[in-house]
Amino acid sequence: MQRRTLLLPGLIAVTFLAQSRLVLADSKTTHQVSTTPTYLNAAKPLEERVEDLLSRLTLEEKLSLVHGDSKFTTAAIPRLGIPRRWMSDGPHGVREDVGPDTWQPAGHTDDFCTYMPVNICLAATWNPDLGRSYGATIGQEARQRGKHIMLGPGVNIMRTPLNGRNYEYLGEDPFLSGQMAVGYIQGEQAQGVSSCVKHFAFNNQEDQRGTIDVQADDRAMREIYFPAFKAAVRDGGAWSVMGSYNQFRGQHCCENDLLLNKILKGDWGFKGLVMSDWGGVHDTKEAVMNGLDLEMGTNGEYDNYYMAKPFRDGLKSGAYPMAVLDDKARRNIRVMLATQMLSDRPVGSINTVNHQLTSRKIAEEGMVLLKNDSDFLPLNLSKIKTVAVIGDNAVRKFAYGGQSAALKAFYEVTPLEGLMIRIGAAADVTYSPGFRMPPRRRFSAPDVAGVRHELPATDSGPSSDDLVKRAVEVAKSADVVIVVAGLNHDRFFDTEGSDRKDLKLPFNQDELIRQVSAANHKTVVVLMSGGALEMDAWLGNVPAVLQAWYPGMEGGNAIAEALFGDINPSGKLPCTFPKRLEDSPAHALGAYPGKDGKEEYTEGLLVGYRWFDTKAIEPLFPFGHGLSYTRFSYGAPKVVSSPPSTGIGAGNFVISVPVTNSGDREGKEVVQLYVKPGKSMLPRPAQELKAFNKVLLSPHQTQEVMLKLDPTSFSYYDPARKAWVAEAGTYELGIGSSSRDIRQHIAVKIEKEIVVPEG
Ligand code: BGC
Repeated sequence: MQRRTLLLPGLIAVTFLAQSRLVLADSKTTHQVSTTPTYLNAAKPLEERVEDLLSRLTLEEKLSLVHGDSKFTTAAIPRLGIPRRWMSDGPHGVREDVGPDTWQPAGHTDDFCTYMPVNICLAATWNPDLGRSYGATIGQEARQRGKHIMLGPGVNIMRTPLNGRNYEYLGEDPFLSGQMAVGYIQGEQAQGVSSCVKHFAFNNQEDQRGTIDVQADDRAMREIYFPAFKAAVRDGGAWSVMGSYNQFRGQHCCENDLLLNKILKGDWGFKGLVMSDWGGVHDTKEAVMNGLDLEMGTNGEYDNYYMAKPFRDGLKSGAYPMAVLDDKARRNIRVMLATQMLSDRPVGSINTVNHQLTSRKIAEEGMVLLKNDSDFLPLNLSKIKTVAVIGDNAVRKFAYGGQSAALKAFYEVTPLEGLMIRIGAAADVTYSPGFRMPPRRRFSAPDVAGVRHELPATDSGPSSDDLVKRAVEVAKSADVVIVVAGLNHDRFFDTEGSDRKDLKLPFNQDELIRQVSAANHKTVVVLMSGGALEMDAWLGNVPAVLQAWYPGMEGGNAIAEALFGDINPSGKLPCTFPKRLEDSPAHALGAYPGKDGKEEYTEGLLVGYRWFDTKAIEPLFPFGHGLSYTRFSYGAPKVVSSPPSTGIGAGNFVISVPVTNSGDREGKEVVQLYVKPGKSMLPRPAQELKAFNKVLLSPHQTQEVMLKLDPTSFSYYDPARKAWVAEAGTYELGIGSSSRDIRQHIAVKIEKEIVVPEG
């Protein structure tokens, strides 16, 4: 085995463990050094290789690099040994192949994948190492499937709990989202597959996503909506970024000078490529001049894409300088070389036991125990003879839903299957659906006038009331009831292309849980959804609630393990669960879904818990909340490493807090640190998450948990100075188990104002 490293300046190193086959290929390469073109010579500096390839490309060939030639590819350049470049969704696995010129499945039999828990579940692990394993798994499968760029992760901030794609993103907090994205990207890119961070920026709702013009002020932009993208690019070293469909300050985001040229490539020094979202380009000049490097998914002939013939015409007439095309080509080439697509790309692996275990591990650590009165969970199988499993979601498969995030999973263990495997012969399991989705509306073929007529409903199944009655009967005679409720990936739930309409459980589920829990108070509710749900109709009647998100192909097993105590839940909410929709900022202020095509982010910085905490509104379950089967106690924190008062190192602190597992079970705790700024020149949220650390503790073990802070932990963005400012003064730090369960406080002092220019 030989280790081969490819360095991309400003980006991270790509390291492959070369197989012996590759070592042979390498030794051949060494003998032919004089004839190997520089761009194929991995020993040469990257920029030299880029320039060499660029110098060999004709105008047409350069143009072929900046637009698609099918739904998910750019053209090959055979004379230079350049194969077709393949992209694929993302973000929870490698998507089924479509096309080439349609969204219809290609009908392949080799395009299955490992279905990972959705990104919001990954965020709920609060474990960046699992982000790394997640990315590595997808990277290995992408390589096996011959994909070079994976379209994910998505890091749009959860501004409203209604956003249909919240399940694809990493929650409401910029710091947590950034940390999780960095792990994901590093893991994926270490496999020689480019991540493509999306959707830059402000794609925080699906409603009117193609047109809505977002207005957000500079502070909200820099402090809330950008940090995860900036971390992805700067710390994660992401090689590709995808623009978003919506507009920002009057310009579409795939053609937005401020976002792409000035901030991403200017302030953050991004050297990789910016691709459009599919069909997100609207104008040749704007796309060409405002920072887009790769146009994908436009309707119509590929040669007529905005950055194909119209771009060529403009170059020939002198409307666009050739340097603009060269810059785009360079950026594409960098990513092509980083993904090793021109030679010796190692074959990946797919659905290995390790991939399955990674999927399961993330499901296990991402599940959030919301409620557990009197230690109702874990269930003790030796005391149970009959289990009632109720709910359509117990038997529903979720991989193949949600549009671009839909996957063709090798398999998917449903909650009912997982429970049956776990329970085995130890108890009788009875299933009752309890609810079901109304049948889809059906339409005739077009008549002579081309009109499709709605066909009469052919719903011969039991009514909602009947389903509830049957479930209640089953519940009455069971020792324990497990209701698996929630949403799915259909329109108006957790899906691309539409937002949720409210926070309610659909299909009569509130009534179902109310009646079932009245019939048998030993009722556990397992929720599958991409975010918050209202629970007031039944929460007081059930002793335990487990938020399972959409937990991937091993989800059913992970749910069973959690309910029966084979694992100890350690997930924490990456988003606030409000009591009612009107309590959430964008809804309280009437700012969603926008007026006259504009979406004013009037809540500014007060997104998620920043709003609830600053306005003192009680949430249903707060950000960072998640129970365990054991208990953790927090001792007095101390500052173990204080900075010099000025100069290099100022503003850097290491805080240590002793955390004890005071129960009898091993468990993981996410120790969270919130900075409370106190008095400030500019208004600030009451508290902000600035550090966290997940630790595994044996029963009665105490560990000193370290939390690191740097000047950014104390800073706000000052638009007047275009800089990050940590004001001099005393900052209170709250350390605890959730944003509303702060166990310890400690104060630190910044002696002298620290000003760091953006960039
Ligand atoms: C989605 C992207 C996705 C692309 C390609 C778009 O509709 O917004 O997230 O990557 O399609 O499928």
